[in-house]
Amino acid sequence: MNDLSSVMMEPGIVADQGRSLWALVTEHSTYALGVTKEGLVINLHWGPRLATLADLPDPSLALTHSSHDPALTSIAEEYPGFGGLRYGELAAQVVFADGVRDLDLRYERAELLPDSARLPGLTLSLRDRHYPLTLLLRYQLDLANDLIIRSAAWRNEGDEPIRLERAFSAAWHLPHSFASRTLTTLAGQWVGESQIQRRPLVAGTALVESRRGITSLNAAPWLAIESEPMPGQLAPEVYFASLAWSGNWMIRVNCDVTGKTTVVGGISEHDFAWQLAAGETFTTPDFVAGFADDGLNGARQRLHRYVRETVLPTSQALQPRPVLYNSWEATTFDVSEQGQIELAELAARLGVELFVVDDGWFLGRVSDTAGLGDWRPDPRKFPRGLGPLIERVHDLGMAFGLWVEPEMVNPDSELYRAHPDWVYAFPTRARSEARNQLVLNLGREDVRSYLFEALNRLLTEHSIAYLKWDMNRPISEPGWADYLAQGGEARELWVRHTHGVYALMDALRAHHPSLSIESCASGGGRADLAILRRTDQVWTSDNTHPEARLLIQEGFSLALPARVMGAWVTDAGRGQVPLAFRFHVSMLGALGVGGNLIHWSAEEMDEAASWIAIYKQIRHLVQDGEQSWLLSPHATRGQFAAVQYTSQARDQALVFFFRRDQVFGGSHSPLRLCHLKPNALYRIEPLRALPTASPLQGYPTVLSGAALMATGLPPLLDNWQTHASYLVKLTEITVLSTWRTHLPEAERYDRTSS
Ligand code: GLA
Repeated sequence: MNDLSSVMMEPGIVADQGRSLWALVTEHSTYALGVTKEGLVINLHWGPRLATLADLPDPSLALTHSSHDPALTSIAEEYPGFGGLRYGELAAQVVFADGVRDLDLRYERAELLPDSARLPGLTLSLRDRHYPLTLLLRYQLDLANDLIIRSAAWRNEGDEPIRLERAFSAAWHLPHSFASRTLTTLAGQWVGESQIQRRPLVAGTALVESRRGITSLNAAPWLAIESEPMPGQLAPEVYFASLAWSGNWMIRVNCDVTGKTTVVGGISEHDFAWQLAAGETFTTPDFVAGFADDGLNGARQRLHRYVRETVLPTSQALQPRPVLYNSWEATTFDVSEQGQIELAELAARLGVELFVVDDGWFLGRVSDTAGLGDWRPDPRKFPRGLGPLIERVHDLGMAFGLWVEPEMVNPDSELYRAHPDWVYAFPTRARSEARNQLVLNLGREDVRSYLFEALNRLLTEHSIAYLKWDMNRPISEPGWADYLAQGGEARELWVRHTHGVYALMDALRAHHPSLSIESCASGGGRADLAILRRTDQVWTSDNTHPEARLLIQEGFSLALPARVMGAWVTDAGRGQVPLAFRFHVSMLGALGVGGNLIHWSAEEMDEAASWIAIYKQIRHLVQDGEQSWLLSPHATRGQFAAVQYTSQARDQALVFFFRRDQVFGGSHSPLRLCHLKPNALYRIEPLRALPTASPLQGYPTVLSGAALMATGLPPLLDNWQTHASYLVKLTEITVLSTWRTHLPEAERYDRTSS
């Protein structure tokens, strides 16, 4: 036994200096990379955790199969650039000042981040063999959540500009496998976001992207690749990834005929170019990826924890998300001081904690044809300004929030009349309007300063705790005449716009540290890991019908946690779907109310108040617990859904169950739970807003975790009722004894692997 094979690798970064390789070890996975003798950085392993450095192969080039399958294409390069005999998926393409378009990056050195860092890190420097271009490949590890966070930084160390034409964040390689694999992505549209798409991974390339200037309603920068469980495996192994970028993005998943599977992604190469001037650095967004040996729920929970622990602004991430009321669906543009006060008084009776006035409050905003850009209260609607309304909201015990759409301008506005040159446009082309609006060029300093001053004044002169930040159309005619005239590369604007949004949000948050921001783009069009660094929740969808919401929320929850998933009970489904079902659906996330309360009956108001009170008691479990979808509405065509939230200590859990219809009547199967302690007894308590008979009559009210997981919760619904749902709380009463097994370790292993 040599030194390497006898040393157990602990979580962290383990370096083998002699063989120029590094193992990035997390709780359940190992990601290993190394440098070949030619100086190429290649992946050696990604998947289940390995024990010792000796488990890893030497970093060396693969054999050339034929002149058509060169080694440079077959190996798993960590960051393959366009150059030489590379024909697989590429992470980069560059044009040097002399017109050469061939990259040849070789390893130079490695640097480890200090051990004390919360997320240990490794940076590898590569340099082109001929040109003064350096590439830093950055790796960070989230040890507990089995995540690798990658990005790349390009530095021009010469005197002449270099043009980047593709600069992705990373390439990820999955190991060869006999198992068949399924690719899951999220696709959508307005009022139909995050629909789960599953397809077998076969030879070819799958592409998901946004070319709209925002993350988009139409696709999410997230994916998962599941392997069929092999004999002896209990759950599918899942590789999953999420890109932290809110502008144009692209993720490509390529599988060749031998099964070599590569994922590359980052800022989209579509209409992208970046002029890297002498001495400048261009840094890509983070691309986060992980490995889960416990299926899609395991992948989901890892990403949720990462978002809560690392991504979200800390001050708010530690607080419960407030129950909000939003006025949009009740009043649309018909906003007035008195009308909003009436709604606020009703919302306060429900127990709402944050009252948000949506669109329609600012200068000239009588419809969607005017006003965007003029961020001052409209004196015709608020003759006394916003002050008296905010005061009344505070007197009612609620915080105050306001809707804005800073990146936009209506041609019919004071701002546009003063600065028609501030929007994206080509001089010889019409300016395409969508929802009667144009997009401001946030790459421009003067535009950003105007917006900062306008919003900062609003936040300084009023006590505003919350902004709903909307973005209701994609970018078009991406021209930037001034920049072009100064010798700039106008195709940078897609990236500069996104950087501009981040800078504006960051500056406002720095000046108003207790401010919360909700990210909205006509619903869930800007929901990603980068916007969530500076926002606290997301408006999931303009579709608030509970049946649609179950499907949308299931998809959303694959990538993002419940505490950021805004979910309101509105009038959608009223009269058709019981209020309890509608509340249950919204209680799966950050609960809000958006119905026109003026029309709600006394009974509806009482029941709603009761659900809100229940939500406040359980929201710590919803917002910060471990979320498992036990029944998938996508898989059951919307007929069933069941979601369990479990405390970290596994001593409390919530189970939400939904059944849309049961046309043939009859009972359904018991619902098997997960993540409980098998040897603990749990009290089973249905949570009900109204004093109705307990559905548990005739069933035990205490069961062991083992029984709840092996045989399940009994069917608690009436046999015929449509839109039926329940919410059950489980609380540990006692732990019986240790859960012992009499099988020796070796035999247990044999059993699972046979
Ligand atoms: C978008 C949002 C809605 C609402 C309207 C206001 O559609 O998604 O929630 O704020 O804008 O115009």
